[in-house]
Amino acid sequence: MDLSKVKWGIIGCGKIAHKFASDLALIDDAELTAVASRSLQKGIEFAQKHNSTKAYGSYDELFLDKDVEIIYITTPHTSHAELSIKGLEHGKHVLCEKPLALNKKEANKIIETSQRTNRFFMEALWTRFNPSFVEAKKRIDDGEIGQVKYINADFSFISEFSLEDRITNINLGGGAILDIGIYPAFLTYVLLGIPKQILAKSIFHKTAKSDMQTSMIFHYEDAQAILYSSFMSKSDMIARISGTKGQIYLNNTWHNTQSYTLVKNNKEQVFDLPITGIGYSHEILECHNCLRANTIESELWSHQNSLDMISILDTIRKEVSLKYPNE
Ligand SMILES: NC(=O)c1ccc[n+]([C@@H]2O[C@H](COP(=O)([O-])OP(=O)(O)OC[C@H]3O[C@@H](n4cnc5c(N)ncnc54)[C@H](OP(=O)(O)O)[C@@H]3O)[C@@H](O)[C@H]2O)c1
Repeated sequence: MDLSKVKWGIIGCGKIAHKFASDLALIDDAELTAVASRSLQKGIEFAQKHNSTKAYGSYDELFLDKDVEIIYITTPHTSHAELSIKGLEHGKHVLCEKPLALNKKEANKIIETSQRTNRFFMEALWTRFNPSFVEAKKRIDDGEIGQVKYINADFSFISEFSLEDRITNINLGGGAILDIGIYPAFLTYVLLGIPKQILAKSIFHKTAKSDMQTSMIFHYEDAQAILYSSFMSKSDMIARISGTKGQIYLNNTWHNTQSYTLVKNNKEQVFDLPITGIGYSHEILECHNCLRANTIESELWSHQNSLDMISILDTIRKEVSLKYPNE
């Protein structure tokens, strides 16, 4: 492998792809080699905006491009597994947007393919690499706030989506759980592990049938978390982690925060840790580290972590009786 630059390809030229590409441009040893859209014109416009060497009018052409080393997949959830597997089978390393798949069954196939082809695969759970999150987690792991007993986190905003929008469209894996509920679920899983029991309730879109708001309780032997995700209401987007000796708050907007607050012994300290760019650069650097270390998974967000995460999401969906048409 040429160690001078890591050669990236992007599949799907939607909203998040633009943000990711602008962060990729900040990384010295990254090159945007090719982008692929279902529309060549859209691909060309994206390539011009983000200085991509090549643009394709189909995803298959990008898979066949010998120059591309790693592919970032940023299409609706329903195509994540198929495209990730295709990429890996074509010898590419893959960074795939969250959730890595619609369900555990699909996710298993991706991980099996990564292992069989010996190609790197990571789910793009960018919060795991956020500098404040990493430092706060270390303090928690080191026991600075004692034993974690309670977590309160959410991800919510008010938005009017059309029925066709991937966020609402049940045929594209739409709904709050998979799109944004994954963040508070991720936080709780990373700090407390797989819950013993999950309780959840959803409010569904009357026409689209996807969940617009879901509240969850994660119950552990000795701890609990109250979590919620919504497209119907707003919250302060602060994650609160409460231990026997203190609290840590991941400040607004917690999943991409630039600071955290430690409350201990009647003292409050704020730690500022700026993100680079929009915040995606940290996961990009992790991919580079893994490729250079010749490993097929990240230690910070491993294959097993992704499988656990999707199992938790499967359980939440089972609790609220949400099944996707193509399952
Ligand atoms: N990490 C984060 O912060 C973050 C934030 C938002 C979203 N996401 C994840 O990123 C993925 C994409 O989200 P997004 O907000 O960027 O979505 P988006 O704006 O709708 O873009 C998705 C792109 O996927 C392609 N696509 C392929 N098949 C499609 C279909 N049947 N219908 C619609 N689009 C299709 C399209 O690209 P072409 O037309 O170019 O082929 C489209 O522009 C989702 O899985 C989401 O969970 C992550």
